[in-house]
Amino acid sequence: MKIVITDHRFKDVEVERRAVEAAGGQLTVGEATVELQAAELCKDADGVLTARAPITRRVIEAMKRCRIIVRYGIGVETVDIPAATERGIMVANVPDYCLEEVSDHALALLLMLSRQMIPSMTLAREEKWPIAKMPVLHRVRGQCCGLVGCGQIGSLLARKLTALGMRIMVYDPYLDENRCREIGAELVSFDRVLTESDFISLHAPLNQWTRHLLGQQAFAKMKRTAFVVNTARGGLIDEAALLTALNEGTIAGAGLDVVESETVVTPLRTALVTHPRMVVTAHTAWLSEEATAALQAKAVAQVIAGINGERPYGLMNLKQESSKSSG
Ligand code: NAI
Repeated sequence: MKIVITDHRFKDVEVERRAVEAAGGQLTVGEATVELQAAELCKDADGVLTARAPITRRVIEAMKRCRIIVRYGIGVETVDIPAATERGIMVANVPDYCLEEVSDHALALLLMLSRQMIPSMTLAREEKWPIAKMPVLHRVRGQCCGLVGCGQIGSLLARKLTALGMRIMVYDPYLDENRCREIGAELVSFDRVLTESDFISLHAPLNQWTRHLLGQQAFAKMKRTAFVVNTARGGLIDEAALLTALNEGTIAGAGLDVVESETVVTPLRTALVTHPRMVVTAHTAWLSEEATAALQAKAVAQVIAGINGERPYGLMNLKQESSKSSG
């Protein structure tokens, strides 16, 4: 049994090594960032663990005997699921390792924006205390947060925001109205989320239906005082349109944990991450000791289970085709 880790961002992969060796297998660890490297690494693997490497159709076609690919994470947009399904290869994610962390992180970004923490910290670091230099602040209680996508993370965040006294609206085409009521939110159209929200927080998967969901037209409909928070995937936002909206004051600011291009520095990315109306974190919303331990253990357990002919609990092949959700 050969298991390949195409790439990872952990301190080490001892958890995986111990599990694979206990199952009588052998672990190979790579640092693939491009298709060719991934294809070479995975060609004779029985199972693959992958983080950000592109597991494209070409990589999948190079696999001679792979039974299962497990993505270290929730989003699986780095894996060509239809290509894997055609080859009879299972694709799984780890759907439940960091839900508290990501919803806390979205809340933290929202509060940093609403309390204007960055301008205030800048003044404090300059040893200046004049409130006249602060942007306008509004009380959070009573403001409206629109959630785009309200699955596991969105619903946890809804509960946390309700505790702060915020009104919650949800746009999620696959969510049932009763479920929405249970979490104390109102199910509305995308347009109402855009026009009525003081904050919009994104929690949908990235796929062909959600790419650039927030673009020029959407920003134009938002309140000029509104903030956008994105802890889901960078591709949900058209970043050129976001930069224009920030520069022209179409919206008040944004808090991003994810950007479209995480591996390559682009002038657009630099302009965004250094923008005075932005709070940006380095795709660390998921990160905690507890989440990391759960992620590594659950990912490797699924890859071993899949090779042994069991159905992994994070199986995505059918789910994606039937619900258009990447989990
Ligand atoms: P989930 O699958 O539980 O929820 C996603 C929700 O989005 C579902 O309710 C689904 O119906 C909805 N949805 C699907 N298409 C939609 C559309 N076109 N418009 C609006 N809603 C739509 O997923 P979960 O676990 O809540 O994760 C949400 C996002 O968070 C994913 O994009 C995932 O990749 C991202 N994530 C980010 C992390 C980070 O470190 N920043 C860590 C973990 C997840």
